[in-house]
Amino acid sequence: MERVRVAVIGYGFLGKWHVEKVQKCSTADAPSELVAIVEVSAEMRDRLKVQFPRIKIVAEVKDIIDEVDACIIVTPTSYHYPVAKEVLQKGKHVFCEKPMTTTYEEAQELTKLAQQKGVVFHVGHSERFHLVWEQIKKGPYSQALRGPAWVRIDRAAPFKGRATDVDVVRDLMIHDLDLLLYLFDEWPVTVEAIGYKIRTKSYDFVSSTVTFASGKKCFLTAGRNHVEEVRKFDIQGPHGHLQVDMHNCRLKFFGASHSVSDVLDYQKRDHLLEEHRSFYQAILGHTPPTVSAVDGARAVYLVDQVLKAVETGQVVSLAKL
Ligand SMILES: NC(=O)c1ccc[n+]([C@@H]2O[C@H](COP(=O)([O-])OP(=O)(O)OC[C@H]3O[C@@H](n4cnc5c(N)ncnc54)[C@H](O)[C@@H]3O)[C@@H](O)[C@H]2O)c1
Repeated sequence: MERVRVAVIGYGFLGKWHVEKVQKCSTADAPSELVAIVEVSAEMRDRLKVQFPRIKIVAEVKDIIDEVDACIIVTPTSYHYPVAKEVLQKGKHVFCEKPMTTTYEEAQELTKLAQQKGVVFHVGHSERFHLVWEQIKKGPYSQALRGPAWVRIDRAAPFKGRATDVDVVRDLMIHDLDLLLYLFDEWPVTVEAIGYKIRTKSYDFVSSTVTFASGKKCFLTAGRNHVEEVRKFDIQGPHGHLQVDMHNCRLKFFGASHSVSDVLDYQKRDHLLEEHRSFYQAILGHTPPTVSAVDGARAVYLVDQVLKAVETGQVVSLAKL
């Protein structure tokens, strides 16, 4: 295969950006070709037929599945599982937006199916693609990630009325649950959490505490009815204080032996484009995807446990995955 033939499934808020990235990658080092867009809205399909006259615009996956190598699933979360299952059963590669599924059991089933079929399953945990995490993991600040620490991650935004089919843990906090696993390379032992329903029928604000055996205690908040946009990561421990403002792409570090702080403005990357490259390279180079189905399933498991902690008001002990 020289070029990955792709269908984008779901052309809503994010789907249009995925379509753009497929087209952008067609001239890059990870070649792809946009073959089809699958969209259930007839009105949107009519618009797309005018906008993309050379692309197949269809209502159902079965109408194009034999003509593609891979599908990018950007439907609302509740459809990820049935759509991904249909695509995998046909032996096609999948890029699925986060959260991978609404339950851990569904995520496990898809992980097994992808393994059985020998295809790539990439999950859209785009926040991993901030350049700063690579700089921290590989550089001198990596010491801050080791051993005991106090960690705080805040991710909040004013109400936008999007993704209200899921709660704020599935929509926003999942990014940070995945980041904890990625950065610390350690599996947590307990979670506790509180949450409030403010604008929708599901939780719009959740604050959780995730504890690790190494002595890390992580305080995460996710809110979608906030007065301002916040995306901040703080880690304070024996090595000093590391702070990342993900919204403004700025890292600050005040080390144990420093008398002044380091300030580093890092380059904002096109995360979605990086994810597409990773996906096509995994397919063409037969390398593991940057965010695998196993990673996606683990994040979904943690989401389920945070919600269980909110519902029960109890500290929840985590299974060893
Ligand atoms: N990685 C990120 O940072 C990030 C950001 C935004 C959204 N997302 C995820 O992307 C997904 C989509 O979010 P959105 O905001 O674009 O939603 P959206 O509601 O704006 O768009 C979804 C589109 O899918 C279509 N659709 C629904 N069911 C379908 C089906 N079975 N087949 C084909 N099309 C179907 C809808 O008609 C709609 O056009 C969600 O899972 C969300 O969590 C991820």
